[in-house]
Amino acid sequence: MPLPQGFIEELKSRCDIVNVISTYVDLKHSGSNLLGLCPFHSEKTGSFSVSPSKQMFYCFGCHAGGDVITFVMKAENLDYMGAIQKLAESCGMTIPDDPHVDTSMIKKRERMYSLNTLAARWFHQQLHSPAGAAGLDYLRKRGLSDKTITKFGLGFAPDSWTAFTDYAISQGFTKPELKEACLAGVSSKTGRYYDFFRNRVIFPVLDVRGRVVAFGGRVLDGSTPKYLNSAETPVYRKKGTLFALNFAKNTADKRLLLCEGYMDAVSIHQAGFIGAVAICGTSFTPEQARLLASCGNSVVIMCDTDTAGKDATMRALGLLDEAGIAAKVLALPVGKDPDEFIRTNGAEAFGALLDGAAGGSDYKLLQITSRYNLEDTQQRIACASEGCKMLAKLRNSVERDVYTTKLAELCHVRAETLRDEISRLMKAEHKAEKARFEREETQKISRVDNRPVPVPELRSARAEGELLGMLLVHPDFVATARCHVTPEQFTQPFYRRLYEILLQIQGQGLSPGLTELGQYFSAEDMGQIVSLQLKREGMTNSPQVLGQVIRAILQDDTKRKQGSTPVETSDNLANYIQNVKKQMTENTKGDHIK
Ligand code: UTP
Ligand code: MN
Repeated sequence: MPLPQGFIEELKSRCDIVNVISTYVDLKHSGSNLLGLCPFHSEKTGSFSVSPSKQMFYCFGCHAGGDVITFVMKAENLDYMGAIQKLAESCGMTIPDDPHVDTSMIKKRERMYSLNTLAARWFHQQLHSPAGAAGLDYLRKRGLSDKTITKFGLGFAPDSWTAFTDYAISQGFTKPELKEACLAGVSSKTGRYYDFFRNRVIFPVLDVRGRVVAFGGRVLDGSTPKYLNSAETPVYRKKGTLFALNFAKNTADKRLLLCEGYMDAVSIHQAGFIGAVAICGTSFTPEQARLLASCGNSVVIMCDTDTAGKDATMRALGLLDEAGIAAKVLALPVGKDPDEFIRTNGAEAFGALLDGAAGGSDYKLLQITSRYNLEDTQQRIACASEGCKMLAKLRNSVERDVYTTKLAELCHVRAETLRDEISRLMKAEHKAEKARFEREETQKISRVDNRPVPVPELRSARAEGELLGMLLVHPDFVATARCHVTPEQFTQPFYRRLYEILLQIQGQGLSPGLTELGQYFSAEDMGQIVSLQLKREGMTNSPQVLGQVIRAILQDDTKRKQGSTPVETSDNLANYIQNVKKQMTENTKGDHIK
């Protein structure tokens, strides 16, 4: 059941869409709207537009769109209630405890946070108990101080099958709750529950706000797997989490250090660099790049020096560039990770290494040029052309210019020649991007609901889309439309559903808009809805045009019925139309189409 209307209106008025989106996207004024790079697809030119007056966003590239709630759903990968809760928390509102409101997911998450906190505390206590002696010994041998152990709340899961499960149950949690939080597993043979983490040192993973969301557990010896990580749960999304970001976001110099391992991040913090974060056993994601961009001004990447590490570095450089944050790459001695480097060479040497980190473009250029023999003419040409491809992807034109000159020197080619080639590549990419969008746009109508659409239906679909667009621009037209078109006359299931819901909302005496629709549609659907609305916005939406569109739908409908065996003339439908007509004539005196 939807939330009380007044609540959502109040929430939306407190959470201005521009303020909210600005924390994710760098927005610049452009006429009455604001423009920026879309956070939902990768692009180099801004297609993402926010309208302060309509409190709405839309991306002309990937067609994501909606209101502030839809935005938070998409950006944070939350469901509708999750987004409402997040917004409500940010502006100090409490969600009304209405028995009709489904708050089960919110409650579940709250329980899981408490369970995770309980677990983190317990693991930490175990470390300082006899059962955890081996764990404490291990961490100390790895050079961690008591202060560091306390700061990160490191812990130990004892060598027992049920120690934690028993404890959590004694504290009022249930076995299924333990399983869902990935703190217990269930034996498929016996159905018994057992502790997920056993005989491992524990690294609790906290989200940016400092809530415990997951755990990583390391073995004390050489057995495998070396690290065991929590699976995703209702409070843990790997793609959007970085270990230690809860501390790193407070760095004074705004310089973040991106490393691969829990131990690396912990070690770097202990050495006095509090900007360190670690990717927890997954590959770096666009969302993590945006998270870093929202917490700092620059990132130093420190991946392993092997091939996988180099690939990971290139990937991270690309994603950080897209997220709009400057990146550098740390040159670690081959085979060393930051933790080992600090242990061998000390914090000061690590600091010097950090200050000397190469710029992202230097690194990329070096990766390319080191693969070619620049004494050989053919290889020089190949190297220059690969270099141009890389430079054509750089967003910053000054940077592009500087590195074009460098590449030209390295390959003994005139910089002008490279510039021409780069601008040719950029134009081609721009054209390709545009063609991609256009293709998608034309395919869209036939892709409604992912099914092939016969040609005559395409025409109806277009009219249906137009009608819906008009109703979204002019909610007061809904009453008129209701008198003439029934949902059953729509050919497209998605459009039919939208129309039904518009009628339903209007029937409740409300004015149908994005706020109300958000409660019925997914974030993806909202994009399509906004797209329908925007298409109509630049056009004339008079009652006359409304009449034409309605007539087109009715004519197509009649044709279909004449062409095939008569359908849907059941008493139910006839009654429905009768009733609706009667009801509407009462409501819309004189608003009929002639
Ligand atoms: P490393 O093996 O480089 O980890 O894996 P590390 O932190 O240097 O480990 P130590 O120093 O031996 O303790 C890097 C990261 O990859 C993930 C972990 O997040 C680890 O920190 N990983 C690694 C796993 O998730 N599972 C594994 O089995 C190994
Ligand atoms: Mn290591």
